[in-house]
Amino acid sequence: MALSTASDVLTVHGGAALSGEVRVRGAKNLVPKAMVAALLGHGTSVLHNVPSISDVRIVTGLLEAHGVSVTRGAAGPNGEPSDTLILDPVSVERASDAAVEAHAGTSRIPVLLCGPLLHRLGRAFIPDLGGCKIGDRPIDFHLDALRAFGAVVEKRPEGLLISAPERLRGTQIRLPYPSVGATEQVLLTAVLAEGVTELSNAATEPEIVDLIAVLQKMGAMVSVHNDRVIRIIGVDRLGGFTHRAIPDRLETASWACAALATGGDIRVVGATQGEMMTFLNVFRRIGGDFEVDDTRGEPSIRFWHSGGQMRALALETDVHPGLSTDWQQPLVVALTQAQGLSIIHETVYEQRLGFTEALNRMGAQIQLYRECLGGSACRFGQRNFMHSAVISGPTKLHGAELTIPDLRAGFSYLIAALAAQGTSTVHGISLIHRGYEDFEAKLSALGADVEMEIPA
Ligand code: EPZ
Repeated sequence: MALSTASDVLTVHGGAALSGEVRVRGAKNLVPKAMVAALLGHGTSVLHNVPSISDVRIVTGLLEAHGVSVTRGAAGPNGEPSDTLILDPVSVERASDAAVEAHAGTSRIPVLLCGPLLHRLGRAFIPDLGGCKIGDRPIDFHLDALRAFGAVVEKRPEGLLISAPERLRGTQIRLPYPSVGATEQVLLTAVLAEGVTELSNAATEPEIVDLIAVLQKMGAMVSVHNDRVIRIIGVDRLGGFTHRAIPDRLETASWACAALATGGDIRVVGATQGEMMTFLNVFRRIGGDFEVDDTRGEPSIRFWHSGGQMRALALETDVHPGLSTDWQQPLVVALTQAQGLSIIHETVYEQRLGFTEALNRMGAQIQLYRECLGGSACRFGQRNFMHSAVISGPTKLHGAELTIPDLRAGFSYLIAALAAQGTSTVHGISLIHRGYEDFEAKLSALGADVEMEIPA
């Protein structure tokens, strides 16, 4: 693991109950996709509730490299930065492969530019992709879909060159698995393809539905049917959009688990109940409590530890409306404080429990299994992937030296360090900036005793 620079290290003195208020803005897994959708429009688009996170900065750089102008709205009366982006794709042009490579960073978003760039320029380039280390993260579903629309995919040493010799045509696509990214790939391509596209076994996460809302505002014809079928009637031209992104249900759940694990009480302003129903049921079953306030002013959800002994659970992650895999890691940390044996069956990613090794170094008792320990057998059963866990609790956590492997594990390590007695040193903090706006300031506001290492 590469050692981090001094400014990438956070020292956490654990033991304090976190209490107070934090704000979440637009969903990290929607905002970059809505920004890419702006490429499809012949007009300016305005996106509200945009968080200041590195995934947004990466997509901004990618769009600007293709000639799209991306500007922030005017600052507020007291100089507070705007959470509005104005995107103008009037002069879309080809970017050099080097520029795409330079801006792609560790994000997987570049693959979603394919459809819009094929429609606008007839060409797209995908560098070898980054993204979290939580499994193989292939893009075969994406490439098969693009080929089905009539695109040509060529493997080059530095990445993939994709071209559309003529206008892409609507088609029938059935995803082998309800992949969020592949569903977005089909949506962003089908809306301007000629004719009708029928997508089966599609993902239907709240961020997908919000992206469809954006596309509908632009003039697209998209209908979501039962049994995961989405039908798109291609149109010849799309306009811009004005949209307020749905709040980040994944960041909200991270703060909820921080309240539970530290015995605290956190109000998350901007959070809404609709996208979080499955998580809220689990939160209550473990021994947390919550209060939704959506009757006056800004919506919010307050999360607190209800005071009793936390209860162990058997959980299985799944595609929406099941328990999101992105909720699994913070919940695992909370379950180390629950009485009894908890079981986790991670069915979306084959290697998303590796982060538990560091929790065991902090005093947790978590055992991993290659069997499908949960309701149903999944794709990873008997394939040598340690994708089930048994957590024995409660265990007293103590501070440790931690290196962040991926975004959600990173924030989950912070939760563990905050719940632990003693001091932890967390390396690789920049990974958390990908999806958690101003988290250091939020932690301090909640009473956490944290120190950013000052760069040498
Ligand atoms: C999105 O990733 C999210 N990222 C992930 O959130 C989230 O965990 C995931 O959806 C599932 O909900 C963004 O939206 C930027 P998938 P994505 O395609 O689209 C397999 C976070 O922490 N697959 O739904 O990459 C894949 O290997 C991140 O915010 C293929 O086999 O996820 C995985 O097993 C982490 N071939 C499963 O599908 C493909 O071509 C689900 O992946 C594509 C996917």
